[in-house]
Formats: sequence, C-alpha cells, structure tokens
Amino acid sequence: MFKVIKTEGCARRGEFSCAHGGVVQTPVFMNVGTQGAIKGAVSAHDLKEIGCQIELSNTYHLHLRPGDDVVRQMGGLHKFMDWDGPILTDSGGFQVFSLAGLRKITEEGVTFASHIDGRRIFMGPEESMRIQSNLGSDIAMAFDECVENPATYEYVKPSCERTLRWLERCKAEHDRLNALPGTVNPHQMLFGINQGGTYADLRIWHMKEIAKLGCDGYAVGGLAVGEPTQTMYDMIDAVEPFMPADKPRYLMGVGTPSNIIEGVARGVDFFDCVMPARNARHAKLFTWEGALNIKNEKYKLDERPIDPNCQCPACRSFSRSYIRHLFAAGEMLGMRLAVLHNLWFYNELAARIRAALDEGCFSAFREAYSRKLETRI
Ligand code: GUN
Ligand code: ZN
Repeated sequence: MFKVIKTEGCARRGEFSCAHGGVVQTPVFMNVGTQGAIKGAVSAHDLKEIGCQIELSNTYHLHLRPGDDVVRQMGGLHKFMDWDGPILTDSGGFQVFSLAGLRKITEEGVTFASHIDGRRIFMGPEESMRIQSNLGSDIAMAFDECVENPATYEYVKPSCERTLRWLERCKAEHDRLNALPGTVNPHQMLFGINQGGTYADLRIWHMKEIAKLGCDGYAVGGLAVGEPTQTMYDMIDAVEPFMPADKPRYLMGVGTPSNIIEGVARGVDFFDCVMPARNARHAKLFTWEGALNIKNEKYKLDERPIDPNCQCPACRSFSRSYIRHLFAAGEMLGMRLAVLHNLWFYNELAARIRAALDEGCFSAFREAYSRKLETRI
C-alpha cells in the first residue's frame, strides 16, 4: 500500500505499508544490514533506537551464508534477526556483478564464483525469487543486470532488453511462490528495476516497458557506479515522468546527504546506502554543519558531542575527545558509536526532509542544506 499525501514540485511526501511494521513515512532512508546485521556490531534492536523504519538485506550474501534454506527453517529473516519491521531484500543483481569472481551472463541468468570460497553458483530470475521468498522479506527486488560504467550503447541496449525479460520471469515466479502453501511471507511485494546506463533514451524505453508489468514499486538502478553526479540526476529527471505516480520509487545505493536531498527533489521516495556505516567505520562522521574526521588532532580535548544538534546514543553521552580516543586505541566501541551516530543522522535527515515537505518548505530546506552537507569541517 502506498499513498502520496503531499507534493512540492516533483518531491513527494508519502506513506507506505506492507506485511510487517506500521506505516513507513516517506521519503525514507533504508538502513543496510547486508548479512542480517548492520556492520559495526549494530543489531536490529539498535535499529529501533536510531529511528530506522525499514531494513535492507542481501539475497546474494544470505544465499551463500548461512543459506536461505537455513533462514527459512529458522522462520524467515524477520525472526532470524529479531526485526519485526519491514525488510527489503536486494536481488543479487548488483552483488553478482560487483563482488563475485569470474561470471558468465546468458539469457538464463548468471554463473559466478562465490567471493567466499570460489564455488560456482548459478543465479537467474527464478533462483533470486526463490531465495527472497525463503528469506520472507516484505519487498523483493527484481533480478537485473547492473551495468558497469562506462558501458557502450551496444552493450547496454541488449542488456536492458534482457533485464526486461528477466523481470517478466521474476513476476511469474514471484506470483507462483506467493501462492504456494507454507510460503514464509505470502504478502511479499515485487519492485522492478530500471536500467539503461547513462543513455536517457534506453532508460525511458525500459521504464515505460517495466511500468506496464504492474510491479508494487519501481527502482532506478545502475546509478552511482562512477558516472558524474549530474549524469545521475539527469537520468532520474529523464525517467521520472514515466514512473507510475501511485507507486513507491526507489533510488538504489544512493548516496551522500546531498544526493538524497536532490533525489527527493526529483521524485524519489526510498533510498539506501552503505555510506553512513562505511564512513563511520573510517571515522568520517556527518553533522549538520558538514562532515568531520574524528581522528583529527583538533578533537583531542573537544568536550562537545560529535554533533551538538544530535540526540543519538553516542551524542547523548560521549565527547568527541572520548570517541577520538576509542578510534586511536582500536576499541570496537568507537566504531559502534560512530555507526550509530551516522545512521541516526541519515534517519534524521529523512525525517527533516519529511517535516519540510509537511510544512511546504522543502525547497528552502534544499537550498539551506544540499550544499552545506557536502562541506568538511
Ligand atoms: N544496488 C545499487 N544499484 C543496484 C542495481 O542497479 N541493481 C540492484 N539489484 N541493486 C543495486
Ligand atoms: Zn549523534
């Protein structure tokens, strides 16, 4: 269920609901727990505390380890990780191309070598749907080819034609699995993924085609893979008019705080990115004044929290000086506090975007923060 409750330009304030959790307020940032845990020793219980509305896990990783059959036997991913809110699973279509070794793509699917032990594995649309059905996520993503950048028109055109045929197969298998008795989550939704590289005509053609298939939501994939930021914005602008207005829209794997504000301005409702947790593990912290590196000497005797305007568990109790010390001493707590702060910041960013939309002042918010959050302090 998705409802747009207010708009400002292309930006949308909406409400989404699925089989788990209450109403998800959009625009929303999804917190990434690739292997059923957020990197940095953050549990599903912590996610509740930092304002996470929806969690994202990965088909590829959970299939390789512990195996989706194990997760299914343990009652599904919600029960396995003790998270009762919404879960979106990515299809493997990105990880197979970014992580796996030697791979071969055919009409059927992709054969690749596991990044864990090198064993050869085949994944196609049907396999991806079966794995996601076993995980019991609320939103399954279509199996797609995330084309690398740069890629020629001659490569991208047949690739996105095949991704369209894969979506048709995903849809058929997804419908079949949801109707089977004993399915972990028979209410699982399916989102289609737009591809087309940096070619606006291919993007638009592909978007129009996948829109005909009546998916529960639509994602824009294959972006933030090395193309200039402006090209990414241009691609979203190109497809936005052809994305069904009554369905949620998801920009995959994006991005910086500024990218999120700019994505919302272009009509996107859902985001996910490993950046807040990854940066935190490298001591790079987001604040409302810009980003900082907590290892910097200048914070040695700094009594202030990471961000004086933040109410996260780290900022409520600890000084910059202490967290800097934890990083210097290699204490895991430093990393954990940093991850909690950065994820809180991203969830808070989405909350402030929603508040601005509610009050009809999103364009002023964009003006005030889109650039500012890019600065380093
Ligand atoms: N995550 C980031 N980009 C992509 C994409 O293009 N496809 C999929 N499946 N996942 C992604
Ligand atoms: Zn904080």
